[in-house]
Parts: sequence; structure tokens; C-alpha cells
Amino acid sequence: MTTTENPTAHASGNAATDKFKSERVSSDTSVERAAAIYKDVLGAFAEIIHKHQVTYDEYRVLKQWMIDVGEYGEWPLWLDVFVEHEIEEVHYNRKHFSGTKGSIEGPYYVPDSPKLPAKCTMPMREQDKAAEALIFKGQVTDLEGKGLQGATVELWHADKEGYYSQFAPGIPEWNLRGTIECDDEGNFEITTLKPAPYKIPADGPTGWFIDSYGGHPWRPAHLHLMVKAPGKRAITTQLYFQGGEWVEDDVATATKPELILDPQPNADGVDEVTYNFALDPEA
Ligand code: DHB
Ligand code: FE
Repeated sequence: MTTTENPTAHASGNAATDKFKSERVSSDTSVERAAAIYKDVLGAFAEIIHKHQVTYDEYRVLKQWMIDVGEYGEWPLWLDVFVEHEIEEVHYNRKHFSGTKGSIEGPYYVPDSPKLPAKCTMPMREQDKAAEALIFKGQVTDLEGKGLQGATVELWHADKEGYYSQFAPGIPEWNLRGTIECDDEGNFEITTLKPAPYKIPADGPTGWFIDSYGGHPWRPAHLHLMVKAPGKRAITTQLYFQGGEWVEDDVATATKPELILDPQPNADGVDEVTYNFALDPEA
């Protein structure tokens, strides 16, 4: 495969599914809580079916579509686009947090990316350097603005085509992925490139779903981040670009006004932006 080949929904979906399956997730949900949730899920289904007088043909199309989503490996894509933002909102609000806002993780996080120093350039190919450069710097602090020792910033994002390493063909494993170890005051300065808007692979069941209601498959250009420091609540978030396409109309409903960057050219003419992360105490 070559780097110019576009990833298909099937290939991206299966890569995301394989990655997710390798984690073997679990939850300590009680039987009582599970019963209450399932009862309400089925109740919501019942209400919708009656409200819209859903037909047998529509029911069979749903059944076929769900089978297709599984076979294409697209459940991680579909769920993270259409459902995760609600989970994230509940997660953030549960404990009255007041630090930097979170956003969805999405299907393309990979743990244990290579460690990089506080001042660094993201791993990138020669061809990535044709994209507009971005210097992204800031500080990881507590809620009072005091810099935190031992902070890390995990950054992962798409290239200028909108593709992620490990999920699209032909890209080196850790391209545009890294774990930045901040200095003793929590400072970091990362040179990277401006990612492109991201199009959910639209040639499979997620795309058919979007077509069926006349929607679009686009997310605005974004940086993904996981920010951690000892004794602090880790945050998973995303940062977007002021005035960027789709910022006001993200298919994944994952933008927030507090998460928008407005880079400006520095003395060398390179776009630069400072964004500080405030972490809540560990819950
Ligand atoms: C999807 C991809 C992303 O890069 C993202 O941030 C969120 C969702 C997806 O294809 O589902
Ligand atoms: Fe993404």
C-alpha cells in the first residue's frame, strides 16, 4: 500500500476495532444498575417506535445496518462520533470539576507513544513538512495556576490529509504521536503541523447512516490531547482552530468554545499559540 491510498471505511473501522478489542475493557456496574439502564434503553426504543410508528421495513433495515456496522468494524467510529460526547459531558460534570474542559477521545488514541522532551518536534515524515507548521506551547498547572512537576502531554493528531498513523495505510507507526514530558514547572513547547479537517470514512455503514438523514461526515481540524500530572485528574481533550471549517458544525458534536486556538505568526512567521491546561485535584 502507498501513502497516497485513501483509507476505506472497512480498513479504518477494522483497525479501530482491533485496537479497541485488544484492551479487553470491563466495568464494575452492579446488577441493579445494569437492570435500571437496560430497562430505560428498551423504554427509549419503545417510545421512539410508537412515536414514529416505525414500520417492519424500517426495522429490518436497522437490523441489516447493525449487522453491517459490525462486519465493517465500524462500531468504534459510529459510537465515538454519535454517542461519546454525551458520555464525556456526564463524566466531566459528575464531580464539579473546574479545570480545562474535556472532549471525546475518539477511536484513534494509542497509549505508550514515544517520550519526547519538553521542547520538541513531533515525529513526522518529510512530506508532512509541506503542511503549515504550528508551534503549540503552554503550561500544565493546578487550579491556582501553579506549574506542576511530572506533567505529561500526550498529543496525537491527523496529518494534512486528515489521516492518523496506525489507522490509515502506509504511515510510520508513531507519526504525529508523542508523550511530551514537561519541564519541572509543567511547561512544554511542541513544533508540529496543522492537521486537516477529518472526514469519517464515509464509504461504509456510518456513511450510509449519515446519507440517510442528509448529514455530512466532517470533523473540524483538531489536536487530541491527554494531559496528566501526579495527584491530578487526567484530562482527555481536543483543541480546534478559530474560524476553521466545521468548527461550528462538527459531526461528532465535540467542540467547546473553551477549546479553540487562535494561532498567530511569531517573529519567524510561524503560527504559534499558547494554551495552558489547569488540572483538578484527583477525584
Ligand atoms: C472519529 C475520528 C476522530 O479522529 C475523532 O476525533 C472522533 C471520531 C471517528 O471516525 O469516529
Ligand atoms: Fe480525531
